[in-house]
Amino acid sequence: AAAGGIALTANASGTGGTSGSTSSDALVFDKDDYTELTETIADAAGTDHEVVYHFYKPRDYVTVPSDDTHQSLVVSVPVKIDGKAVDARNAPIVLANAVGAYMPSSVAEATGVGQAALEMGDLMTGGGGTGGVNGMVNLAKLALVAGYVAVEPGTRGRSLADSSGAHYGMAPAVIVDLKAAVRYVKFNKGRIPGNTDRVVSTGTSAGGAVSALLGASGDSPRYDKYLKAVGAADASDAIFATGAWCPITDLEHADGAYEFNWGALVTQSTGKAVDQTVSKALQSQFAEYQASLKLKGLNGFGTLTARNYDQYLLETYLQPSATTCLAALSESERTAYLAKNTFLTWSGGKATFTWDDYLTHVAKRKKTAPAFDAFDLSAGENNEFGTATTKARHFTAYSLKNDTTGVTGKRLESDLPELLDLMNPMYFLGKRNSGRSRHWWIRLGTSDTDTSHVISANLAAAAHHLGDDVSHEFYWDQGHATNADPGDFLTWVAKVCG
Ligand code: DHB
Repeated sequence: AAAGGIALTANASGTGGTSGSTSSDALVFDKDDYTELTETIADAAGTDHEVVYHFYKPRDYVTVPSDDTHQSLVVSVPVKIDGKAVDARNAPIVLANAVGAYMPSSVAEATGVGQAALEMGDLMTGGGGTGGVNGMVNLAKLALVAGYVAVEPGTRGRSLADSSGAHYGMAPAVIVDLKAAVRYVKFNKGRIPGNTDRVVSTGTSAGGAVSALLGASGDSPRYDKYLKAVGAADASDAIFATGAWCPITDLEHADGAYEFNWGALVTQSTGKAVDQTVSKALQSQFAEYQASLKLKGLNGFGTLTARNYDQYLLETYLQPSATTCLAALSESERTAYLAKNTFLTWSGGKATFTWDDYLTHVAKRKKTAPAFDAFDLSAGENNEFGTATTKARHFTAYSLKNDTTGVTGKRLESDLPELLDLMNPMYFLGKRNSGRSRHWWIRLGTSDTDTSHVISANLAAAAHHLGDDVSHEFYWDQGHATNADPGDFLTWVAKVCG
């Protein structure tokens, strides 16, 4: 779709009026409406720089916001770094989301770059939510000091309710908002600084999930009615490149993948093994699902199955990750590490170990079983798939069957299949969605047990399978929401954006 006019009505059926603005003017970016700020910002290597930049205060990216505390964005454009003029007119645009735990995020109070706030109040227990906004790394700031344009969107999230108590931030609100933000940027081609054909999305955990989803689902018509309802700009929502750190995605298959990966471990909070009957049942669901994907591994590895996935993770990700980490240590540091971690063999500059020893090394799993669709509806993801009037729902047949809360339905509610598709990048990659991003940067800590390693490895394999450019690596011994190589990411952005 070309720019020039926005979706005209909030009312998809076309009956009655609309409460929102219907003028395309409402979404026109005024390039003169900025404040010039000067800030000292450390780059990815930790070196401080004096950055003069234009800060564009919060503005709505939709004409019918149900909530402009969340459906607004800020833009930061570098103009001078260490006294040297920067021309960002054609720079990559880094769209840094601050989503965590599928909770709301906001830039409404931001007075400068990198101030997006994640709202973690009223979290449900069980699953979801260490709330790492890019871990300790603020990608909006790092993008700015690297000379890129930083766009930071707020987004609705699962905890939001209106004055009557109706929930309005559950699936698919977060992805609708991110798409609307991309459309806003692209609608403003020629007005907004930066190259609108080089939008690079970033996010961590739930934010990594929706970043990957944004990349996979570009320009899919399946979101049209939702985008129309919020009054999104009439423009493309396809992005150029995708950065996703520890994506918590493919939620309807994640319980099985989790047990495949971590089924043998005790749970962090209880120190006990999970119910092995449940774990085994979920593992067999995983075997079936993985077989159905018919995905080949990276580096010439054959078709991925539940029988070879442990070996695949070892060869492709875990051992190379340990090798990189140990190679970077000094001789004495390495000797000390190896003395403490005797499961690991260091020979010829390479680290090797067995899958079982690796699991023993990780030692504990963060979540109980099932990890995402909890029998008692206590996981954050149960809340993410709630409705206006129901706070949490089951989204897998298995957990519905094993429900402990008195839910009576025998089948998943009829709107769920569509919602699950709209939240799952694997669905869009499986459909070879032509509007998808062709460049993928995926990272995960080897000690991250918030989801299965299979989830990001499958995402990488699915994109690779379509011929896309994929960089997927693991950070050795790092936990959830780590970003250990932001400098490499920014270099990669420059490279792929050409
Ligand atoms: C996040 C963590 C989780 O364990 C989860 O299930 C969903 C989201 C997060 O940190 O964003």
